[in-house]
Amino acid sequence: MSILVTGGAGYIGSHTVVELSLHGYSVVIVDNLVNSSYDSISRVEYLVKKKIPFFNVDLRDSEALSKVFDQYKITGVIHFAALKAVGESTKIPLDYYENNVGGTVSLLKVMKSHDVKTIVFSSSATVYGDATRFENMIPIPEECPLGPTNPYGNTKLTIENILHDLYSSDHHWRAAVLRYFNPIGAHPSGLIGEDPLGIPNNLLPYLAQVAVGRREKLSVFGDDYDSHDGTPIRDYIHVVDLAKGHLAALAYLHKLNPDDGLYREWNLGTGKGSTVFDVYHAFSKAVGRDLPYEVVGRRAGDVLNLTAKATRANTELGWKAELSVEQACKDLWNWTTKNPFGFHVDHYSVNDGA
Ligand code: NAD
Ligand code: WQD
Repeated sequence: MSILVTGGAGYIGSHTVVELSLHGYSVVIVDNLVNSSYDSISRVEYLVKKKIPFFNVDLRDSEALSKVFDQYKITGVIHFAALKAVGESTKIPLDYYENNVGGTVSLLKVMKSHDVKTIVFSSSATVYGDATRFENMIPIPEECPLGPTNPYGNTKLTIENILHDLYSSDHHWRAAVLRYFNPIGAHPSGLIGEDPLGIPNNLLPYLAQVAVGRREKLSVFGDDYDSHDGTPIRDYIHVVDLAKGHLAALAYLHKLNPDDGLYREWNLGTGKGSTVFDVYHAFSKAVGRDLPYEVVGRRAGDVLNLTAKATRANTELGWKAELSVEQACKDLWNWTTKNPFGFHVDHYSVNDGA
């Protein structure tokens, strides 16, 4: 009996595969490596001392996907595979819909034809859009009205709706929708971590590249927000805590009565907000020196505050984020010093350091 992890070679997927394997689950990975490399899987295997079946398959290739379900007795799916760059999604929205929504529909059809009806889905806090537009919605509860503001976020909300419709059509489906806030950090071993292609979009991956000299300085996108230091507030969650949230959700689904299904959303966040400068200071401390930065104008689409109300996951799933932003910064720095150019030396490029 195995758990299929789509996108298991990626950042959050690889950390989740580690936790699943260490907790006795058999795992099968499907990933087309569009934003990852096989090296992450070989390092996971090294970490857990176990071979993990891997299939280089695009989810939209339902024939190839079906063969994986024929070969293994899959009892549940954790579905990470997606494109995730907000800015890119505004330029090539059709690719995002085709990959994220199309890939999910293909996956769900194959699951249905193999009578596998348990799925944990990677959603995102991005489905809330700007929750500060409402009164009393910070920290953000799952009941907050949704309103994504970019094509990537729209694909996540569309998939949530598809899962809900599927459950309404057949109450044997069990769908856990996990809305992640801002995942950061790396595995404490320093063997796996985030390895963005090209110029990082996200705060800590960018800062990490500044620290190893691949980027000159951090651009702080605005210091005129209504926060203690003028920079926006986010709920940064250690990727290992996040990975454990998936095990908690899976266990919750497995514990339901045999005839019961479910569709439910859970925020995975810490419930605590940190500003850009809070994170900047924590990472500079982990590195041991102040990193260069410059305050520039606001980034289009950024909002003041995205902090989770995490109590639903705390009480229902019995899961709580335990690791601090400081710990995540230490683990990120450990991963970065051991792998300054990510998984491959191929990542050296004439443009690096520009
Ligand atoms: P990632 O890019 O590192 O991992 C996604 C993996 O999916 C990659 O390995 C990629 O190769 C694979 N993939 C993409 N499309 C595929 C397809 N059609 N078929 C097979 N494999 C495919 O991203 P991540 O940060 O690990 O994110 C995992 C999930 O969590 C995504 O669904 C993402 O939208 C969601 N999420 C991420 C964040 C974040 O900040 N990292 C926040 C909220 C939600
Ligand atoms: C965090 C803060 C920036 C980079 C994104 C997606 C969201 C989710 C998580 C997938 C913001 C500031 C950043 C930089 C900066 N992903 N910043 N300089 O925007 O909260 O969330 O990732 O679902 O959907 O939108 O994360 O890391 O980009 O930004 O000042 O070079 O850091 O303004 O305040 P964000 P982020």
